[in-house]
Amino acid sequence: MYTWEALEEACANCRKCSLHEKRTNPVFGAGVKTAEIMLVGEGPGETEDLQGEPFVGKAGQLLDDMLKIIGLDRKSNIYIANVVKCRPPKNRDPLHEEQEACIGWLREQYRLLQPKLVICLGRIAAGALIHPDFKITREHGQWFEREGIPFIAIYHPSALLRDESKRPETFLDLKAIEQKIKELCPNTELSYY
Ligand code: URA
Repeated sequence: MYTWEALEEACANCRKCSLHEKRTNPVFGAGVKTAEIMLVGEGPGETEDLQGEPFVGKAGQLLDDMLKIIGLDRKSNIYIANVVKCRPPKNRDPLHEEQEACIGWLREQYRLLQPKLVICLGRIAAGALIHPDFKITREHGQWFEREGIPFIAIYHPSALLRDESKRPETFLDLKAIEQKIKELCPNTELSYY
């Protein structure tokens, strides 16, 4: 049983798959370690690899804007992590074996956080956490219960940067998430500013 500090240190020394060879920094996670809401992305991109923080590049800026609409931000009320902690070369999808090697870190983060609600960002996270053949175009915005906890997937912010036509449906998904937070997360203060 890890503490947050021990987990982060162990993860920083991980060599369970070859992605560690080219990393500048592992990207463990960020946000509030007592949050009721967990967001899970795919894996670090170039900016994240350089800074050691999740979602700090262009997609991260859009994510912050999306979260702001429903009163969430990483300094106040959410925790964000990724399925894989090291950047896949040229931002390719993490391979199945890389996800398998890495998912234990995310499971430990989940165990420590004990979130009341989990938001998967994109197909890879949804495939790893909801069900393996997740179809994001068909299943985004639907709730799935896993061990009593509601999980939902929305489009990955990178997909929304590539295809703005997906934004209106994402807005509806965000509003459904906001409603669920109001029902299930009594300690989450939504901060609209
Ligand atoms: N995309 C992700 O899935 N995660 C990050 O941390 C950054 C971009």
